[in-house]
Amino acid sequence: MYSAVQPSGNLTIGNYTGAIRNWLAMQDEYDCFFAIADMHAITVRQEPAELRRHTLELAATYLACGLDPQKCALYVQSHVPQHAELCWVLNTFTYVGEASRMTQFKDKSQKHADNINMGLMDYPVLMAADILLYLADYVPVGVDQKQHVELARDIAIRFNNRYGETFRVPEPLIKRDGASIRSLQDPAKKMSKSDENPNAAVFLTDDRDTVMRKFKRAVTDSDNRVCASEDKPGVTNLLTVYSAFVGCTVEEAEKTFEGRGYGDFKLAVGETVADVLAPIQAEQKRLLADRAYLDGVLKGGAERAYKVARRTLSKVYRKVGFYQGD
Ligand code: TYM
Repeated sequence: MYSAVQPSGNLTIGNYTGAIRNWLAMQDEYDCFFAIADMHAITVRQEPAELRRHTLELAATYLACGLDPQKCALYVQSHVPQHAELCWVLNTFTYVGEASRMTQFKDKSQKHADNINMGLMDYPVLMAADILLYLADYVPVGVDQKQHVELARDIAIRFNNRYGETFRVPEPLIKRDGASIRSLQDPAKKMSKSDENPNAAVFLTDDRDTVMRKFKRAVTDSDNRVCASEDKPGVTNLLTVYSAFVGCTVEEAEKTFEGRGYGDFKLAVGETVADVLAPIQAEQKRLLADRAYLDGVLKGGAERAYKVARRTLSKVYRKVGFYQGD
C-alpha cells in the first residue's frame, strides 16, 4: 500500500477524508508506505523555511491522526534518492502527449502561468515512481488523483511488456464518500490547501470557532431542504463532510437532518468536525514539541523505505541494461 501528501501548506479536511483517514484502517492489514511528498511540493514555489516547517508538521499530523510508525513506514520522499532515479527511467516510458493531457497539469498551468516548469509536467511520473518502487497493489487517494494512478498503471504495464514482469500494476483505492470534498464557497471547485478565499477550506489546524464560522458561511441554496442532489452542490458537500466525519452514509445523514433547517444543519456539521479535530490538534502540538522523536520516526521510515526502493531500482537498472559491474 502506498500513498503520500504534499507538505505544501496546512492540510484541509479533504486531505483527511480523501486520504489519511482511509489509511488508518489499512495499516493493520497491509505493508504500508506513507510519504511526505516534498519533491512534488517544489513543482510550485515554496518558501524554504515554510517547506521545512510543513514537512515536520505533516509528520506530526500523520502520527496524530493515528498512523503507527511500528506498522507503516512514514518518511520524507527526498530522503530516499531512488524516487528521483526511477522517475528518470520512467520518463522514457511516458509520452509527452499523455503527460500534457493530465487534468491537474492543465489546471496548475493555468493557475501558475508564470511558472509552468518541467517538474509540473513530470509530477505524475514522479508519482508513478513513488508507487512502483514499493510494488504497491493499492493506492488510497482522493478522486482528483485517480488519473495519476491510472497513468502509473499504464507506465507499469508498458515497462512490463517490454522487459518482463517487473512492477505490480497498482489500483487506486477511492472511498465512496469523502473522496472529493468541495470548496465551502464554490462547490464547483475541490477544497484545496491553496485557495485564496480563507473561507473556502477548513484546515486540520482550525480552532473550533473558526470551524464553526466557516461552516456557518458555507454556500447552500434557498430551498432549506437538507438532501443530496446534483442541483444542490453546497448542501450535498456538507452532507458528505458530515457523513465522512461521523462514519455514516450520505443517506443516513439525510435522515438525521430530515425536516431540520440549514442553520441547525450547519451547526451540527461544524460541531462534528470540530469534535474530531480537537484531539488530533492536541496530539499534533504535543508531538511537535518532541523534535527528536519525530526525527527518529522519519529516519526509521526512510531506512525501511530505502531497503525496498534499492531492491526495485537495481532490478530496473539491470532490466534496462545499465552495466552494474561483474
Ligand atoms: P495532495 O497533497 O495534493 O493531496 C493529498 C491527498 O488528499 C486528497 N485530496 C482530497 N480528497 C478529497 N477531497 C479533497 N478536496 C481533496 N484534496 C486533496 C488527494 O486526492 C490525495 O490523496 N500527488 C499527491 C501526493 C502524492 C501521491 C504519491 C499520492 C505524491 N506521490 C503517490 C499517491 C501515491 C497529492 O495529490 O497530494
